[in-house]
Amino acid sequence: MRILGIESSCDETAAAVVDAADGHPWQLRSSVVASQVEIHREWGGVVPELAARQHLRDICGVVDQALADARASWTDIDAIAVTQGPGLVGSLLVGVSFAKAVGAARDIPVLPVHHLAGHIESLVLHNGELPYPAIVLVVSGGHTSLYHLPSPGVYRLVGRTRDDAAGEAYDKVAKLVGLGYPGGPIVDRRAARGNPHAINFPIPKLTHDDRNVGPQTHLPEGFGDALKRRADFSFSGLKTAVRRHVELATGGGTRALTDAEVDDICASFQRVVIQTLLDRTFRAAEWFDARAIGIAGGVAANAGLRAAAEARGAAVGVPVFVPSVALATDNAAMIAAAGLRRWDAGDRGGSLDFNAEPGLVMLVE
Ligand code: KG4
Ligand code: ZN
Repeated sequence: MRILGIESSCDETAAAVVDAADGHPWQLRSSVVASQVEIHREWGGVVPELAARQHLRDICGVVDQALADARASWTDIDAIAVTQGPGLVGSLLVGVSFAKAVGAARDIPVLPVHHLAGHIESLVLHNGELPYPAIVLVVSGGHTSLYHLPSPGVYRLVGRTRDDAAGEAYDKVAKLVGLGYPGGPIVDRRAARGNPHAINFPIPKLTHDDRNVGPQTHLPEGFGDALKRRADFSFSGLKTAVRRHVELATGGGTRALTDAEVDDICASFQRVVIQTLLDRTFRAAEWFDARAIGIAGGVAANAGLRAAAEARGAAVGVPVFVPSVALATDNAAMIAAAGLRRWDAGDRGGSLDFNAEPGLVMLVE
């Protein structure tokens, strides 16, 4: 079984080939990512229209390269998995239209997959099958969500951010202290040089049960209302605290921050983010008697988060799984993996009558 994955939900055009054989772990054959960072850096964030146009320019070359790297031709491809959503609609449309067109022309089944299912399955692609039940934290530029996986391929949302995603908070803090774009990797590097206890930023707490309440999360019977949404996250207050600190420290912008001050702000901000993410994740792992914890998505590339999660997992005796850095940020290998999961569950694609869904919600089972 050989599957081609296609990902174009945001600012990365990606294609990858993954193989599966009965009783063997999934094998990554190739993974090509054309990043648009240089284009969007000038604007300090992703410009949707520019992203869509660049996907259109890159998609054919990226897919050809992924096939060539895997020494595969179209006749070797048994199925195509493509990100259906969530994401930017113009960007998603390029991948979805490409996948449907090749699927129709070559008579290859096409499986639409959820972007976050891809992030979750990156853990399995990199580490082999996880022990279940598992708790998986997906932390990226657009999402901070906690999933309970009772068994392979079943994703139940148990917590999510009420406001900013963790990666978004990183990107905004980087901007506040005058670092470049995207902020996550730069803040990560600067944090390693600073003092994490230099500034006492507040640990985000949800005080009002119904503040920004979105779709209901799925806690099992018996948990009662008191626990509902206790695994939710919030990062807007922390971002405001950093802004206030910077305003005070710079006398309202009349002087620049020193390098040492920037290092300390990054380290202190990162300490609070990591504690918030891991407190909720480990608490959920206790609730669900998890045999494994996974952390996926772009922020899972964070060196401080990886180290802290592994230390905490070792302390409580629950193994922590992360993807490689290349599989943590957006890529198509994870989309191919999510497609293989669907294939294993008996999904053979079929209808090409699906569309890009910018607000796609992941079905529970
Ligand atoms: O998963 P991803 O590539 O795209 C989305 O699906 O959103 O995640 C991108 C996000 C960005 O916000 C970026 O700043 C953040 O992941 N990120 C990091 C690191 N590397 C990427 N955040 C913290 N530390 C990192 N090392
Ligand atoms: Zn992503």
